[in-house]
Parts: sequence; C-alpha cells; structure tokens
Amino acid sequence: MQTTITILSILIVSLFLGCVKNAIEPVETTPTTTNTITDDNITYNKNIKPIIDQNCGGCHHPQTLNTLPYLTNYEEVKFEAENGTFASTIFDENPRLMPPSNPLLNKEKELITKWINLYYPK
Ligand code: HEC
Repeated sequence: MQTTITILSILIVSLFLGCVKNAIEPVETTPTTTNTITDDNITYNKNIKPIIDQNCGGCHHPQTLNTLPYLTNYEEVKFEAENGTFASTIFDENPRLMPPSNPLLNKEKELITKWINLYYPK
C-alpha cells in the first residue's frame, strides 16, 4: 500500500515536473557524461563502498557504533552479500530494514543488485 502511494506520488510529481520543464526548456539535451555506469563497470571500490560508508558505516564499523556485522572493507561486504544478509536487509527488511527507518534510494539498491549479480567485482 505504501509502495503504491509512493509510486503514485512519484508519477504525479514527475508528470508535473515534466510539464514545467517542457514549458521552460523545450529542447531536450542528450546527456554527455563520460562516466555513465553500465552493467560492466560496477566495482566495489568505485560504486558500492561510497554507498556503504555513507549509509551503513555510522553503525557497522568498530570505530563508530561498533555494530556487527562490520561493513568496512571488500571482504566483509562480500561475505554479507554472499550469504544473502546484505540484500535481505536492504530489500526485504529481513530480519530488519537497513539502514533502520531510512531505506536506500532505489538507484542505490539497483547498483547493489547489479554488483551482486556480477559476483562482486572489486
Ligand atoms: C543506525 C545504525 C545502523 C545503520 C546506519 C545500519 N545498520 Fe545494519 N544493523 C544495525 C543494528 C543495531 C543491527 C542489529 C544487530 C543485532 O540486533 O544483532 C544491524 C544488523 C544488520 C545486519 C545483520 C542482520 C542479521 O540480524 O542477520 C546486516 C546484514 C546489516 N545490519 C546491514 C546493514 C547495511 C547493509 C546497512 C547500510 C545499507 C546498515 N546495516 C545500516 C544498525 C545499523
């Protein structure tokens, strides 16, 4: 139910923004960024570590709240990803939602999924 509301709100907002944007700037420019993330170039150090440091590091690190499991380096994160706990906390809230009451953005979850599906490139 909450998901439906969220999706509806996003749709409504983007419809609205779409109109505003078109009214102001009718010419659609193609993005020319050179570091577009594709399925082939996702790595732990480049894409995953920043998400984890920012969203999980405040607790899952011996120098912060010292909560196990530690998620401070490639080996630790890969271990959690391999046994499924990583994905099950950020997606299924199982056994609980991580980060608590502050879910990751969809694009961050998507990146993590791709990284897992690629067997954890470092
Ligand atoms: C505000 C602090 C906090 C943040 C931020 C946080 N966690 Fe947690 N995490 C906890 C606590 C507390 C536990 C539960 C420890 C327990 O009860 O045994 C936990 C447990 C876990 C577990 C183990 C679940 C289990 O019981 O098997 C995983 C995996 C996990 N967190 C992943 C993450 C990930 C991934 C992120 C970032 C996306 C994250 N956490 C962010 C506090 C946090």
